[in-house]
Amino acid sequence: MAGGAIVSTGAPKDYPAKLTSFVLFASVVAATGGLIVGYDIGISGGVTSMDSFLSKFFPSVYRKEKENQSTNQYCKFDSQVLQMFTSSLYLAALIASFFASSVTRMFGRKWSMFGGGITFLVGAALNGFAQDVLMLILGRILLGIGVGFAGQSIPIYLSEMAPARMRGMLNIGFQFMITIGILAANLINYGTSKINGGWGWRISLGLAAVPASIITLGSLFLPDTPNSLIERGHGDEAMCMLCRIRGTNDIHEEYIDLVVAGEVAKLVKHPWRNILKRKYRPQLIMTIFVPFFQQLTGINVIMFYAPVLFKTIGFGGNASLMSAVIIGLVNVFATIVSIFTVDKLGRQKLFLQGGSQMLACQIIVGTLIAIKFGTSGEANPSRTYAAFVVFFICVYVAGFAWSWGPLASLVPSEIFPLEIRSAGQSINVSVNMFFTFIIAQAFLTMLCHMKFGLFYFFGAWVLIMTTFVAVFFPETKNVPIEEMILVWKAHWFWGRFIADEEIHIGGRVEMANGISKAGSK
Ligand code: BGC
Repeated sequence: MAGGAIVSTGAPKDYPAKLTSFVLFASVVAATGGLIVGYDIGISGGVTSMDSFLSKFFPSVYRKEKENQSTNQYCKFDSQVLQMFTSSLYLAALIASFFASSVTRMFGRKWSMFGGGITFLVGAALNGFAQDVLMLILGRILLGIGVGFAGQSIPIYLSEMAPARMRGMLNIGFQFMITIGILAANLINYGTSKINGGWGWRISLGLAAVPASIITLGSLFLPDTPNSLIERGHGDEAMCMLCRIRGTNDIHEEYIDLVVAGEVAKLVKHPWRNILKRKYRPQLIMTIFVPFFQQLTGINVIMFYAPVLFKTIGFGGNASLMSAVIIGLVNVFATIVSIFTVDKLGRQKLFLQGGSQMLACQIIVGTLIAIKFGTSGEANPSRTYAAFVVFFICVYVAGFAWSWGPLASLVPSEIFPLEIRSAGQSINVSVNMFFTFIIAQAFLTMLCHMKFGLFYFFGAWVLIMTTFVAVFFPETKNVPIEEMILVWKAHWFWGRFIADEEIHIGGRVEMANGISKAGSK
């Protein structure tokens, strides 16, 4: 058995929670990486609705949009090429997250963040100065690589730095920055769309360099997590770092947890092969289902295409962009709610409450659109009617922002044992990116064919995922990250996948056990 640790099937330890300013600062800096992810989500929809951008890079789409005299609102914007611009980035991110896994594991979390930041920076420059479609696409690919690396490494970094009882709060800093990035992008689009001369889109795309510079420079100052230091054989440094981030020398038990986890991790040479083992089945299934479900909430229909959607229900161009800004604000503020409740109420309550709220809103919005537009897609709803639709979309977004939004990156980053954490997080990011791609690519076509039924379609998925959480998700709040296995072992369904002797926990073993030697070599 690794490092001489005892086998334990008891309850997870309750370490004292103290948030040192060191951890707070490191977490805020790392979380700013969320800005690049969010900026991109928010910027593409607005840019692709700018005539000057369309006529320069996608003239055929532009002509088609101008010539289209059809009164069927549902099908006004259906274009594969246009959707490809938005969605191509997510394919690049998907592939990049697998490479990020090795960098994160072998060189530490901070170098993945740095790599992500710098690639995103170059991508932003290429896009801002783009002269032809080739530069545009190349830029998109680099942005995607940046998003893949940031999404893979930052949630792990935050979850490892945080004291167990504040892990939810600190990890959600990443999602919070994503929502700020989306909002900033919406506001910038609102401003640049008013620039005469047709170059506003260059500012929108080029300004992505700002958040990229923040994380690129910031990551250089970040310390590595003790977990990663141990994993890479720097036991002494890890112990110092743990004392420093916890603000006390009384880190004995937590340190032993890390050492044992590190010992097991060193035995695992091929995380990708290992993750398929039966004992990791519960976490593997969760890390696939959670991002899949998150995208099937339909959130990115709103995030990418809100301006287009609002034009569809009869808003003018200005009002549409403004409504997107309102939604962006709701997204930011509702995320704050989860920051302060996730470690008290727990993950499951937020999942269930948020899911129910989203489902109710999807039924209402679908019905409001059905009543006005029917299946013909022809109508001219009053301002009050359209405002009602926007209101319920806002309530839906709030439900997402304190449940599936933050939890879909928190949960996968905290459920895996160290030896396969990095690989598990890559799977999470790539599944997320794959389904983000599918939704981005398919939404306008789906709207054209499924009409108001699209809202019921996503509603049905929300019902499925909420039931799934109620039945299969064990609560993970306040559990020390290297003791998470105990939670799975105690679950009525998942427990059967984990044999007693596969649980290596060091938390309550004395130093005399020889583990200290293993850790400080
Ligand atoms: C999701 C994104 C989404 C964003 C909205 C993130 O957690 O992964 O796809 O656009 O939340 O705030």
